[in-house]
Amino acid sequence: MANQNTQVKSEAAKYTAEKVSYAKGLEGVILCDSQVSFVDGLAGKLFYRDIPIQELAENSTYEETAYLLLFGKLPKRQELEDFKAQLKANRNIPNEILEIIQKYPKHAHPMEALRSIVSLLGMYDTDDELHTPEANARIAIKLIAKFPTAVAAFERFRQGKDYVAPEDNLDHSANFLHMFRGPIPSDLDVRAMDACLILHADHEMNVSTISCRVVISSLSDMYSAICAGVGSLKGPLHGGANEEVMKTLEEIGSLENTEKWVKDSLAKHFKIPGFGHRVYKYYDPRAAILKNFAEEYAKIKKEISEKLQMTELIEKLMVESLGESKGIYPNVDLYSGLIYSTMDIPKDQFTPIFAIARVAGWCAQILEQLADNRIYRPRCHYTGTLDKPYIPIDKR
Ligand SMILES: CC(C)(COP(=O)(O)OP(=O)(O)OC[C@H]1O[C@@H](n2cnc3c(N)ncnc32)[C@H](O)[C@@H]1OP(=O)(O)O)[C@@H](O)C(=O)NCCC(=O)NCCS
Repeated sequence: MANQNTQVKSEAAKYTAEKVSYAKGLEGVILCDSQVSFVDGLAGKLFYRDIPIQELAENSTYEETAYLLLFGKLPKRQELEDFKAQLKANRNIPNEILEIIQKYPKHAHPMEALRSIVSLLGMYDTDDELHTPEANARIAIKLIAKFPTAVAAFERFRQGKDYVAPEDNLDHSANFLHMFRGPIPSDLDVRAMDACLILHADHEMNVSTISCRVVISSLSDMYSAICAGVGSLKGPLHGGANEEVMKTLEEIGSLENTEKWVKDSLAKHFKIPGFGHRVYKYYDPRAAILKNFAEEYAKIKKEISEKLQMTELIEKLMVESLGESKGIYPNVDLYSGLIYSTMDIPKDQFTPIFAIARVAGWCAQILEQLADNRIYRPRCHYTGTLDKPYIPIDKR
């Protein structure tokens, strides 16, 4: 109890004043020190651990990139071999969980299924409660290894097909496509999937990464933090945008309808999926790399060439209309959906594939958060009126 003579201070005025300026959506706010990745939005550049994304997309593999993100350096040959062996050894998910996945409703969104599987995996992992850097690094490897298995298992079961077990002779991307679709994938499919996974592996302080950091900042466990990441990625303003791009292309229907559709949408101030970004005010470098793969597919698969032409026309019209004036350019989602649908991947599985990639970044960011943690606890601008009396229920 405060001494009666003590002057009680209040900070209510500071937070309830009519005009309190703050960064809505945390725009421009620096959240933490980080060395994991950096986006130079004006130059249209992305770096993982200082290395430009183009160099990784051209020369690296998903496994090597995941190692880089997690451990902060490119692995030596033996380190990479060991890391790949650990990933392979951790691909299986417990049979009890597979049995549960089989019972999931077939109509559930695959992101809901993935979120639930991550939660189940946490209950089966005794490393979960150790809270040591070593145990957390092991969990990171397990999560990266198991995400493709989880996504593929739900897909097989909801289609009424048999589960395809992980194949040790295949690397990460090839194994995922094999578990998901059945046959051994083509070289182009493997290269394109690996590039997609590399390009989506991390992206600085995006909303799902912040979600992971916020959850782990209470010293919760890694599985809880990753569940938050999956839940956050599910939204159409974040990971769900490539699904929206494909729905948009289907809605437009043909190349000849495209120009009118874009003009009408802009007149209605509709936010066209696959464009715009909080940080990039120029071309997202990942979009250009993915466009190259879409062009490679279009040469051998006629069915995507019209969709590619439509996408290119939308890009041209959008950049002409909003590029200079509002900094609206293509983002990573514009071409990724086209690539996935060429691989016969259903639209609602695009975001889970994003999660398969991003789990490496989430884990790296969580480990970094834990190494220099302070619990997140911001304030709000309170827009209510304080000190209202309590009205008894029969007088309301
Ligand atoms: C990514 C996104 C959520 C960023 O949101 P944000 O930083 O809050 O930007 P805003 O929504 O405030 O947009 C700023 C301006 O650009 C316009 N704009 C932004 N994205 C646009 C888009 N995709 N199509 C048309 N106009 C767009 C907004 O209408 C707004 O115009 P105004 O200033 O006249 O009101 C937003 O660009 C968007 O919804 N894009 C489509 C979804 C998408 O592709 N998401 C994937 C991101 S990787």
